[in-house]
Amino acid sequence: MTTPLSNSQVRDIEALLHPYTNAVALRETGSQIFERGEGVRVFDQAGRGYIEAMSGLWCCGLGFGNAELVEAARQQMEKLPYYHMFGGKGHEPAVELAEKLKALAPGRMARVFYQSSGSEANDTQVKLAWYYNNALGRPEKKKIVSRVRAYHGVTIVAASLTGLPNNHRDFDLPVEGIRHVGTPHFWKNGLPGESEAEFTARLAAELEALIEAEGPETFAAFIAEPVMGAGGVVVPPAGYFEAMGAVCRKHDLLTISDEVVTGFGRTGEWFGAQTLNYAPNALSMAKQLTAGFLPLSAVVIDEAMAEAIEANSGKIGTFGHGYTYGGHPVACAVALKTLDIYERIDAPGRVRALAPRFAAHLERIAGHPLVGEVRSLGLMGAIELAPEGAKGFAVPNKVGPRMVGELAARGVIGRAISDSVSLCPPMIITEAEMDEMFAPMVPALDATLDWARAEGHLPL
Ligand SMILES: Cc1ncc(COP(=O)(O)O)c(C=O)c1O
Repeated sequence: MTTPLSNSQVRDIEALLHPYTNAVALRETGSQIFERGEGVRVFDQAGRGYIEAMSGLWCCGLGFGNAELVEAARQQMEKLPYYHMFGGKGHEPAVELAEKLKALAPGRMARVFYQSSGSEANDTQVKLAWYYNNALGRPEKKKIVSRVRAYHGVTIVAASLTGLPNNHRDFDLPVEGIRHVGTPHFWKNGLPGESEAEFTARLAAELEALIEAEGPETFAAFIAEPVMGAGGVVVPPAGYFEAMGAVCRKHDLLTISDEVVTGFGRTGEWFGAQTLNYAPNALSMAKQLTAGFLPLSAVVIDEAMAEAIEANSGKIGTFGHGYTYGGHPVACAVALKTLDIYERIDAPGRVRALAPRFAAHLERIAGHPLVGEVRSLGLMGAIELAPEGAKGFAVPNKVGPRMVGELAARGVIGRAISDSVSLCPPMIITEAEMDEMFAPMVPALDATLDWARAEGHLPL
């Protein structure tokens, strides 16, 4: 017996195409419509409350209600609700935020360019890498290296950088000039008998072999998330970024750190590149930049890139790139207030203090017969479900979604990424709320295990 859909659910189906959703299946289940939020919780139209253990889509680091951010938006809306930066115009919130981002970012960063989303930020990154190499008189040096299971967004180039089959399938992607190298997921991709160090060396050798086979003069950049988010919270082995960075420096590839998820304290430092010990030429930021309250993304580039790009705009007469809403003053004002709050609560320090409890909760369930691996860094983590002794299910992407459904039935919203369950709670979460968030894990795993056996996903 399925519950009849509510009037809102029927209107929703008739009016919307939902991202990452099977539109045919949705006709049966209907969408879950949310109404309000408070602290780490959201409440749906039926009045049910949930701990939002994914911060929405990895973005609401300050949770789902914040009077200071509302007030910052209101004041800026009253003063100057919109202005742009085309043709040399500007506004104070954009300048102040850019100064702040340059100061917070690792390395010697020189310029900031704004868009509204993570996808657009990564599109900008690719365009900057191309423009930069044209500026330097290297028109062949254009290919971008990304990784299998990377997530960099869904616009045409960002989706091409993304290394997930569903982002390419039936969209005629990837476009030309994008290469994908291996995922640094030791548990899944390490060879029998291989050590983590050997695994890392193999991945770096793969990158180098690709560059040498096709010619270093044809490669512009390497883009990577410090911790892969939407690929399933993949924390690379120690030394990975040092090894990949060395190959990039040797062959003169720019390094781009996609910090859309890992930025602003999430991994225990301001940026994931700092936690993982590498110094990129450019960073993409979004999501927690405004705590998810408004759309804003920023690309931050180093001095060498800025110098070449500025000089080229002088030579050809313009830098022909920009978005109507890039650096929207209200979004910038909210970002500035967000950064104030992160500094006041010491978001990176808070994450470092909470991370051991988060990891211990994960470790406690690691021995469950349905759990293959648990992994985490800072306040990002994943529970990888697998049959005992195996690295995945014969039919993937069934057990993970079931587990997320079991968790939701017990008041916690996680996210299934194939057969892993990701967790990325708001950074304001308290210890007591974290304990509450983990309390239903074992009952949900037990229920999922029973279901998986009954459905034939596991030996009986
Ligand atoms: C690492 C990373 N980069 C880029 C994006 C794309 O951001 P958006 O959805 O704002 O376009 C995401 C979104 O989840 C992401 O996780």
